[in-house]
Amino acid sequence: MELRKRQIGHLKAPGNWINDPNGFIYYKGKYHLFYQYFPYAPEWGTMHWGHAVSDDLVNWEHVGIALFPTKYGDQNGCFSGSAVEHEGNMVLFYTGVHYFEQDPENIHLCLHDRFDSCQMRIDSWNGMDFDNFKGKQVVIPPIEDKCHGDRTHTRDPKVWKGKNGWTMVLGSRSEEGRGKLLFYQSPDLKSWSYVNEATKGDGWGWMWECPDYFETEGGQVLVFSPMRFLKDGKWEENQAICMTVDFKEDGCEMNMPDSYQYLDYGLDLYAPQSAVDEDGRRVLVAWLRMPEAVEEEGQAPWRGMFCLPRVVEVKNGHVYFRVHPNVKKLYKRPVTDVKDTGPEGYLLSLELEDGGCVNAGGYQIFRRGNRICTDRTQVFCRGEDYRMVFETPDVKEGFHLDIYVEDHMVEVYVNDGEYVISNGVYGLKKELLISGGNKAELFGAMDPPIHR
Ligand code: FRU
Repeated sequence: MELRKRQIGHLKAPGNWINDPNGFIYYKGKYHLFYQYFPYAPEWGTMHWGHAVSDDLVNWEHVGIALFPTKYGDQNGCFSGSAVEHEGNMVLFYTGVHYFEQDPENIHLCLHDRFDSCQMRIDSWNGMDFDNFKGKQVVIPPIEDKCHGDRTHTRDPKVWKGKNGWTMVLGSRSEEGRGKLLFYQSPDLKSWSYVNEATKGDGWGWMWECPDYFETEGGQVLVFSPMRFLKDGKWEENQAICMTVDFKEDGCEMNMPDSYQYLDYGLDLYAPQSAVDEDGRRVLVAWLRMPEAVEEEGQAPWRGMFCLPRVVEVKNGHVYFRVHPNVKKLYKRPVTDVKDTGPEGYLLSLELEDGGCVNAGGYQIFRRGNRICTDRTQVFCRGEDYRMVFETPDVKEGFHLDIYVEDHMVEVYVNDGEYVISNGVYGLKKELLISGGNKAELFGAMDPPIHR
């Protein structure tokens, strides 16, 4: 069965399984987006890094597997990480894992959650070729000192260049089982020294995955994914959250407030990663968790996709996630019927009155007072384990919605990213019903899709 090569709009698994975005970077005139990839089945297993490239964040091409296990340290998987450019090279950092014992019935899984994690580096001169045999180095071995961090649950290096050198943040956990961040610094990307940690009290999850830190004009932002943040035993327990923080590069002191926002109020997105685009915007993508694989004719079953790239901005302490301008350029073909739209789906823009409702092929979007809500009961897998109904906090800036609908994902941008609700969906129909909506406009993807 065929693997998917090219995609427009949302990046999806080429086939089989993907999870977190990794190594997101604009490098030598192209966007590179790697991803956690299991190439053999539509389920999580020994992690590889799959690789996609794009000229514009809209037209994507899958170019194969970039990283795969070859070393003692990454024998059981190349976990998440990030990319920087240095002296013309693309430099990737990731977490290598080594299981103490594999599950004899499925060697892609670890028995008893006992494994070592180390932080590794691999360089590429062109961003396309990676020497998995000769090019890897361990830069931070598994942590031995329990007071410092967890030898198993320390992972997902995000590296950036500061004023005086390089900083790395890792997700980890304390001995008492609280999530925390570890900061390391390096003058040369080779030798790394531990500098500091940051954490919160109880109630913030037992391990913090995929931290990302960056500065924007309006403030410094931390995004991370605490595990078991919601404690109701449901599928969406692990959540990606964000907050504005106070970070000092000298000494890596991070002050984290008590308030946070969800990255996305659909609670399906996870493990986001950001990069700087060619115009200097901070752009972020995240993984849409999908409980079931999608089977389409002639194509390998696939499971996992990314949200549309979002520009992150901070205004008055609030973090906004706005659709990237290149995506807006794609959805510019006016249509009168959603049946006239292709696989890239459509954009519906409108103002919603109180009590108003949009039914997008079975997915409901409605307004209740000052909140925007969604309900996917008719277009999702059945089961107690899943949330079906979602809502934003009270919105402040009006009730303008930009709703991007495609076969397996709906994204509702409220007031240009004041809040976003994104949900995975299955079995959506090509139908649209609106009540209590004003100034509604409908667009399909440009045909042929834009190439800049
Ligand atoms: C988050 C995560 C990361 C890890 C990767 C493994 O979804 O658990 O912490 O590096 O996925 O695939």
